[in-house]
Amino acid sequence: MIRVNENYSRIKPTYLFAEIAARVAAHQKAHPDAKVIRLGIGDVTEPLAPAVIAAMHRAVDDEAARGTFHGYGPEQGYAFLRDRIAEVDFHARGVDVKADEIFVSDGAKCDCGNFQELLAADAKVAVGDPVYPVYVDTNVMAGRHDIQLLPCTKANSFVPSPDGCDADVVYLCYPNNPTGATASLEQLQAWVDWANAGRRLILFDAAYEAFIRTPGVPHSIFECKGARTCAVEMRSFSKTAGFTGVRCGYTVVPSELVAYAADGAAVPLKPMWTRRQTTKFNGASYITQRGAEAVYSPEGLAQTKAQIDFYLENARLVSAALAKAGYDVAGGVDSPYVWVDVKGDSWKFFDHLLAEANVVTTPGAGFGRAGEGFIRISAFNSRENVLEAIDRISKAL
Ligand code: MLT
Repeated sequence: MIRVNENYSRIKPTYLFAEIAARVAAHQKAHPDAKVIRLGIGDVTEPLAPAVIAAMHRAVDDEAARGTFHGYGPEQGYAFLRDRIAEVDFHARGVDVKADEIFVSDGAKCDCGNFQELLAADAKVAVGDPVYPVYVDTNVMAGRHDIQLLPCTKANSFVPSPDGCDADVVYLCYPNNPTGATASLEQLQAWVDWANAGRRLILFDAAYEAFIRTPGVPHSIFECKGARTCAVEMRSFSKTAGFTGVRCGYTVVPSELVAYAADGAAVPLKPMWTRRQTTKFNGASYITQRGAEAVYSPEGLAQTKAQIDFYLENARLVSAALAKAGYDVAGGVDSPYVWVDVKGDSWKFFDHLLAEANVVTTPGAGFGRAGEGFIRISAFNSRENVLEAIDRISKAL
């Protein structure tokens, strides 16, 4: 008899954003004329930057001709992209990450979900609460049910400290999804010191790094002293360059990073991740990686920065409007997400905004218990839609 993985019965039957999509579809069906504005899932709306498009067109031409055609690429990613990532995202900031420590993938979500496969089944996991559901769900699917929740509240400005955390691995995400909070270098250093002191691991999700504008806010966990012996970092082109539909991201696994076997022997994680990726993944497409490479060209950098500035201005407008309406808001600076204290049931608030304003948000409860009482508003939409959503929300409230 074939048995199922019963760990799946311990997670909600529907992924958060699938549940929201279902509610929105039902609403749209009941109100076919309603013009629904989506500020729920963080999905970009601006088209790809011209530099990226041009590079991808050239890559298509490469694929069309003998001599420049590419079949399977290197599973770790093409050197032309990994070199640019190392140079621009790290070396230019004085951060030591080598090109051969970068693993290009089809997005940070997969890497965030997959990396736990390298860890012992009984590894103790800690996550912030509220949290991006992927960290929790993928660990529960793998049989790790006893997950330590680190409350991220107004009292700690949504940045938990490692005090009292006895996990083996912690997921940190800054700028944070969903609260939009950023962590200071001192706060991240405290986590790195905690990890090194206990031979623990930090899985650092920096998918929203490109939104950081405030000087002094760290862009990478590897800005902390000692992070190379305790941290992995995931990044994404999804929000940085509008690649949610193209799919590309990368993970940095330092050569020094180890985890431990039952007998205490240190086992390097980089070869293990190489083994995992070469077995289960055939690499992001050549065309995609040429597009990602173009993000680092002078034009690509300027064009993608302008897109992010545009979303940041949306976030500022949403934040200001909600504050004006009397709500406590966090995030929205150095982040595309505005985290609003609605002082009540977040699913009810979500339903109310959908019914009365035809605006989709994300209920905080979907990100965990400590998210209850909040909603997340995403800044990813056109200016016209954001302004209209603000107007409709203000009326509905
Ligand atoms: C979100 O809305 O939280 C993100 O778009 C989800 C993701 O990046 O997978």
